[in-house]
Amino acid sequence: MKSKTEFGSKIGLIAATVGSAVGLGNIWRFPAEAQAGGGSAFLLLYTLCVLVLGIPVMLAEFSLGRASKSDAIGAFGKIVPGTRWKIVGTGAVLASYLIMSYYMVVAAWTFEYLFESVTGGLYVGAEGAGASELRELFDARMDSYIGSDLRPLIFTWLFILINIGVLLGGVRKGIERLSNILMPLLFVILAVMCVVSLSLPNASEGVSFFLKPDFTKITPGVVVSALGQAFFSLSLGMGILITYSSYYPKTTNLPRTSVIVALMSLLVAVMVGLIIFPAVKSFGLDNDPLRGATLVFVTLPEIFARMPMPQLWSSLFFVLLFSAALTSTVSSAEVVIAMLEDRRGMSRRRATLTVLLPLMAISSVCSLSFGSLSDFTIFGRTIFDLLDNFSTDFLLPFVSMGVCIFVGWIAPRNLLGNELSNHGRLRSPFSKPALFVIRYIAPVLIVLIFTYKYL
Ligand code: PHE
Repeated sequence: MKSKTEFGSKIGLIAATVGSAVGLGNIWRFPAEAQAGGGSAFLLLYTLCVLVLGIPVMLAEFSLGRASKSDAIGAFGKIVPGTRWKIVGTGAVLASYLIMSYYMVVAAWTFEYLFESVTGGLYVGAEGAGASELRELFDARMDSYIGSDLRPLIFTWLFILINIGVLLGGVRKGIERLSNILMPLLFVILAVMCVVSLSLPNASEGVSFFLKPDFTKITPGVVVSALGQAFFSLSLGMGILITYSSYYPKTTNLPRTSVIVALMSLLVAVMVGLIIFPAVKSFGLDNDPLRGATLVFVTLPEIFARMPMPQLWSSLFFVLLFSAALTSTVSSAEVVIAMLEDRRGMSRRRATLTVLLPLMAISSVCSLSFGSLSDFTIFGRTIFDLLDNFSTDFLLPFVSMGVCIFVGWIAPRNLLGNELSNHGRLRSPFSKPALFVIRYIAPVLIVLIFTYKYL
């Protein structure tokens, strides 16, 4: 039998996993959710969800992947032969594919904005413009960059081609190498931008909105979105962590890895908050809704335009987003590629093309739902929104709950303990509390939240 691929180094394995976790979820979605949830109140709940629920569920996925050394569907059958719980793995692969198909589109916008920042096209006409003119200018730019038909399609196709290029290189030479370069770059850019933003006039008002706890803002709705955000931003429920951990050597310390990944993902969200809230406050744009595409594609360019050297800051910021998006899309594609390699015996090349070429068409349809297909709706939603809602609101909780029930109740009792302690070689004070959360707390909370949201 061919020996199973493994990551080449400890740093590489962490870079790849952090790369998957840190994505548009942290940089694009987080500030919007935080603003809607009262800033600090949301941050507090999000942190709690990541630490108390996210880490144990992450450990459940890691144990499945590393114990089975299989793809996200095969993992279930390897651990309990003949089990019907494979359906959870199928849900995970489906979630990965659907999320990837619309995520490519937003990733492509970041690519387009990066291109326009570097060439300067984004800022043509911005010099000397007043506040309201700037708003109009960037609104119009967004319409023509995102709302037109052909331009975003071309960038979507290019972005998919870049993914193909990385993934053909395989786990070590493709994914790991890419993450080893982009992750350090991402942290450097974040640090530089934090310093710049925190030194703007009145920055401290933005900081206190974000960091000073205000418990009155906590409502059931905020709890629901904090949990959803925590799961999404840790890449839970998509089979990604099962697939990546199947490439971890038997010596990897899983509890330590999970804590590092969770803390890095949190750190990125906090740093993004420390960039966005002070800047938005400082330029008096804090009454803008930061929802949807507006924050990143309109509000931030407005801010950059009012700073010295707009092109520089804008290019740096979009390199950041582009890198975060790319290391996430390759991880979701890897879930499906690994599944085709393991279960269908496909070669790397064939599996990569089988997964990504159809996306050229599927993602195009998602992209067009901001252009000529914007009036085409099913259940009152565009195709883009439909895919987003179905996968993040329905599939992800379903898969995460399934993983918890499987690892907590169906799999051999010692699966988690063995994996967390590397079969007794490590001390693992985490095993008992993690098992408790996986068995009781996580499934119950997911059901409660699901019912609250839909009933
Ligand atoms: N954690 C990722 C994010 O925050 C989620 C994701 C992973 C989305 C892979 C798409 C593909 O963006």
